[in-house]
Amino acid sequence: MHSYSLDDFIADCGEVAARCADPADCVSAIAPLMERLLESDRSFIRPEHLRSDSGHYARNAIYISDDGHLSLFALVWLPGQWTPVHDHGSWGVVGVLQGALEERAFMAVDGEITADHGIRLKRGGVILLKEQSISSFVPNPDHIHVTGVPETRAMAVTLHLYGRNMNSFHIYDVEKGTRCLVDVPHQET
Ligand SMILES: [Fe+2]
Repeated sequence: MHSYSLDDFIADCGEVAARCADPADCVSAIAPLMERLLESDRSFIRPEHLRSDSGHYARNAIYISDDGHLSLFALVWLPGQWTPVHDHGSWGVVGVLQGALEERAFMAVDGEITADHGIRLKRGGVILLKEQSISSFVPNPDHIHVTGVPETRAMAVTLHLYGRNMNSFHIYDVEKGTRCLVDVPHQET
């Protein structure tokens, strides 16, 4: 167990984001930083970051940069809580603090999506992220997915770092082949 403060993590991620023009380079450089944060004494986690909500998965803001280029959330997933099918329009790095998070992927059959209709999505594979695991994604074409915790599993707590203030995302209606941009609420902490 070592100390890696939240301030140092944020500063390191900001430096990487400023240096890397390609989002793939950005997440490659940040994944080991997220690993280091997960392996730290986690003293940056406060009780308010661990709030759950019986109605839906909870998004607790840990850090949102003033310029809106970086945001970090703790998400708390009770058994049976899932996101809609969505993308992020940004790069992102996910790390699991506790439990197991399931990611189910969707792929755009026609490549990059340029309109909000006529979208053909195909189901892809599944990833089970266990405690200390790290996942990442890049935009254009977006990583489209459903994330959550099945009823049969215990609650999970995950860290999500994004290359923007993640206050909205596209949700997809797979049957209708449409998507729309929706606000994503979070709890201030
Ligand atoms: Fe997501």
